[in-house]
Amino acid sequence: MNEALPRDGAAAPQLRRATPDDSEAIAALHIVCWAETYRGLLPDPLIQSMTLPSRTIQWQRALERRADVQVIVAEDASGGLLGFASGGPARGADLGAAQEIYAIYVRRQAQRRGLGRALLQSVAAHLVLKSMTPTALDLGLWVLRDNAPARAFYERLGGQPGGERMEKREGHDLAEAAYRWSDLSALLGPPSFTRALDGSGTGFA
Ligand SMILES: CC(C)(COP(=O)(O)OP(=O)(O)OC[C@H]1O[C@@H](n2cnc3c(N)ncnc32)[C@H](O)[C@@H]1OP(=O)(O)O)[C@@H](O)C(=O)NCCC(=O)NCCS
Repeated sequence: MNEALPRDGAAAPQLRRATPDDSEAIAALHIVCWAETYRGLLPDPLIQSMTLPSRTIQWQRALERRADVQVIVAEDASGGLLGFASGGPARGADLGAAQEIYAIYVRRQAQRRGLGRALLQSVAAHLVLKSMTPTALDLGLWVLRDNAPARAFYERLGGQPGGERMEKREGHDLAEAAYRWSDLSALLGPPSFTRALDGSGTGFA
């Protein structure tokens, strides 16, 4: 049974903007999700190089000092974090987009319930609203080339495959693939009332 998600009648997970007080909880979840996602895909030393103090400081700096970075968390009824996503200005021209999703992680036991979609849409919507042209989406991200489940998720949400690159991280060469969105409606999908009519709504609209 999935303990992270509500039983019928219980409160649904909530999305909200993160604050600096969330830094340590996001860092802890980041570390758990890294291990869940990348064991077998990345070298163990790289996975183990992520520590709670260093990650907490990174998240704290971003949340305190970077007004141009959007961080959204999803939490359960008792305030426990189920996932998070962040985005802001693209970190390099090779992405071919002005804005970038930096990270998106949902705790394994809460996956495939619509949280990832809600988090990605929420960060994208905040970035569009803050941009100079608040009608257009010019968004991209880099994903580990061999992270097939995440790539299937991005493709399901209308991401268009972009280029590939090799990145060096802590001395390890990583192959990455880009996805891009230039159309907000492709990411948002059909209006929620359309999905509700045929009974296929996710509960997070
Ligand atoms: C990738 C991730 C964020 C997706 O979040 P999620 O909550 O599991 O995804 P959702 O339930 O919102 O799925 C949205 C849609 O994508 C589809 N989808 C999600 N994961 C999929 C998969 N592995 N294969 C095929 N389709 C998938 C869902 O079926 C759903 O489609 P629908 O339109 O039929 O409803 C989450 O699985 C995760 O955190 N993975 C580990 C971390 C990771 O790889 N992050 C990306 C780093 S770049």
